Amino acid sequence: MKDISEIRSDFPILGRQVYGKPLIYFDNGATTQKPKCVIDTYSRIFTEFNGNVHRGVHAMSDLTSEAYENAREKVRSFINATKKEEIIFTSGTTDSINCVAFSFGERFVKPGDEIIISELEHHSNIVPWQMMCQRKGAVLKIIPIDDNGEICFDEFLKLLTPRTRLVAISQASNSLGTVVPVKKITDAAHSENIPVLVDGAQGIQHGIVDVQELQCDFYAFSGHKIYGPTGIGVLYGKEEWMNELPPYRGGGDMVEKVTFEKTTYQNLPYKFEAGTVNYAGAIAMAEALDYVLGLGREDIAEREKTLLDYATRQLISVKGLKIYGNAENKIPVVSFLLDGIHQYDTGIILDKMGIAVRTGTHCAQPVMDHFGIDGTVRVSMSFYNTFSEIDTLVEGLGKVIAMFKK
Ligand code: ALA
Repeated sequence: MKDISEIRSDFPILGRQVYGKPLIYFDNGATTQKPKCVIDTYSRIFTEFNGNVHRGVHAMSDLTSEAYENAREKVRSFINATKKEEIIFTSGTTDSINCVAFSFGERFVKPGDEIIISELEHHSNIVPWQMMCQRKGAVLKIIPIDDNGEICFDEFLKLLTPRTRLVAISQASNSLGTVVPVKKITDAAHSENIPVLVDGAQGIQHGIVDVQELQCDFYAFSGHKIYGPTGIGVLYGKEEWMNELPPYRGGGDMVEKVTFEKTTYQNLPYKFEAGTVNYAGAIAMAEALDYVLGLGREDIAEREKTLLDYATRQLISVKGLKIYGNAENKIPVVSFLLDGIHQYDTGIILDKMGIAVRTGTHCAQPVMDHFGIDGTVRVSMSFYNTFSEIDTLVEGLGKVIAMFKK
């Protein structure tokens, strides 16, 4: 792997100051910073070859269409999908999950059917299923978590019934950092012929995602969480399912023939890509994937594990600090509270020291309810963070505590 100072210099924003202090960016679970190659690619699209995709006979449209389809192939290879047609570009994880919730619900869900999610989910993997259940008269079943923030696997097995139509589960929790045993879940669900959707919003950034190995039927992720732009994401869906599902949105480019009497749809993947797609986002996201591959995904995971272990050790040593989420296998996320100090106060004071952390419920209110709290301070790290940034955070927390003791 490249030297850390070389890596950091790939990310222009990491060189800036906040309130006169060097920026320490510990909010990578919310969004990641962008390397220069991604920023340059985005700009190059509009300065060198911009045209709408799949629409023109002219060179600008051809060049853009080619780059867009190359991006699809890069995503396919990155997650090891079997076919390019199984890669749908969406606006992000939320859009991808809404697409499956709507289309799968329309095609396969009847009153009294059941959908399984877990207590660990982000709102984006709760609300679309609630909406679908309401629409179809189905029932949402919840896998509980234990006090370490791990899925209770035996309870999951008990929830599988002949009425279960789909399981939707996070690969990793954004609020606690728990890595979920997705393969065990798909194995159990598949033994009952039940498909599994994996919310990869937090998983994609931190390890090797191989959808064939995970055996998931659907996988959703966002470009901005893996060093790419906002407003672009991916829905991977096994061809046999995606061919069965009706389109989620109607419009241009997803149709084969339109008359006022009847419209027929394109084949995969275009059936699910109505309207002008975010081709610039897709092309720049593919550049981000190349950047990650260039660093090496195993090396990234190893470095992030070392950062997590160090941060956990240092934070535990802070008096009155309690960590929420102590799963054995975690992405580099540490969620905590300081005794007697509200998370917003901690976050606001750290910000004045140039340290960006996330505070609140992290769009995972049921997780907070489980622990009987109204939020945490969350430190979410990336390979570009350093041990000395963790030391500065710990010093900063010392100052927060001292302020509240006065
Ligand atoms: N889902 C994002 C987070 O965890 C926004 O912060």
